[in-house]
Amino acid sequence: MAGAGTVAGAGSGPGAEVPAVQLDHVVRRFNDRPALDDISLTLGRGEIVGLIGRSGAGKSTLIRCLNGLDRPQAGRVVIDGTDISTLSEQALNPVRRRIGMIFQHFNLLSAKTVAENVALPLKIAGVARAARMKRVMELLDLVGLADKANAYPAQLSGGQKQRIGIARALAPEPLLLLSDEATSALDPETTQQILTLLKDVNRQLGLTILMITHEMEVVRQIAHRVLVLDAGRIVEEGPVAKVLASPQTDTTRSLLRGLSPVLPADLLAQIAPEGDQALIRVDVYGPDARRPLLAGVEAITGQPARLLHGGLNDVQGEPYGRLFLALGTADKDKLAAVVAKLKPETTAIEVLGYVPANV
Ligand SMILES: Nc1ncnc2c1ncn2[C@@H]1O[C@H](COP(=O)(O)OP(=O)(O)O)[C@@H](O)[C@H]1O
Ligand SMILES: [Mg+2]
Repeated sequence: MAGAGTVAGAGSGPGAEVPAVQLDHVVRRFNDRPALDDISLTLGRGEIVGLIGRSGAGKSTLIRCLNGLDRPQAGRVVIDGTDISTLSEQALNPVRRRIGMIFQHFNLLSAKTVAENVALPLKIAGVARAARMKRVMELLDLVGLADKANAYPAQLSGGQKQRIGIARALAPEPLLLLSDEATSALDPETTQQILTLLKDVNRQLGLTILMITHEMEVVRQIAHRVLVLDAGRIVEEGPVAKVLASPQTDTTRSLLRGLSPVLPADLLAQIAPEGDQALIRVDVYGPDARRPLLAGVEAITGQPARLLHGGLNDVQGEPYGRLFLALGTADKDKLAAVVAKLKPETTAIEVLGYVPANV
């Protein structure tokens, strides 16, 4: 059986780039209903990948298949070159140790101190006490909580608990960190701090991170690449900026809804099929997003265009946003000329209708 779990040709020589994770045609059914329906994906070393999907899409099932807590009925789950789908429980243990997990509800042991929580995986791995304590202090330093070593979880804020969760996950020097909704129980500011910490850890340690979330905002802030899961299938994937800028499926569009500005209700109520001024929605992203748009529009209409609503966000260092413009005219030919002019300069443009001049 020696080497039976090793994928042929994958990374036997030094320096060979074996992906951190590879899934090939993974199927997991519950009562004949597929929770994972032919999933294939690769996570490169050092990548941060966002896996986003609505409740019931199959995210947690995917995580359980990745860390060997569940087994697919078909397909292969390959972690660092080892096919774990056929490994015995015992043979799985060393692979599991290379996978760190962080959770929505932190899962800290309340009767143990912070240092004891972080030390736990090292104790299980048989690391001697002195080495364990040294490593625990390094990890607490890394997450900025060295002064809390002797505190108990109940004495910590949510953000501090998640930092401890991250320190514990990093203790065995994992290859892969799985995050299952790790920021879903935190407020936006704390979420931001945790995402910054994860980005630092990714950069410093070259750790591969799979961020499972239902929030596109989390993906926007941290991921290099995004996979959209819907009913057990990957329906869309690509670099975050590209998927955000031109979503191809309704699932992605609905997950994006919270990210883009939407018209306030009072403005929405004033849109009609006829009126004084055309109202257009313009989506922009990339270096072009900050180009002057309005001057070109005004040159066509002869009227100042007004920005009624909108905003720009940052996606992996690129601006991404949505603007609502009232054009100052209802003239159909001018409107068509404006749309033709803006189309090549924007990712999407839509005429929403007409609004009164005094809106
Ligand atoms: N142990 C189980 N037994 C039966 N059905 C399950 C089980 N685990 C998950 N499912 C089903 O699989 C689908 C995906 O669930 P899950 O992976 O938890 O989704 P998510 O984490 O995206 O919300 C759901 O329809 C769920 O009801
Ligand atoms: Mg889940």
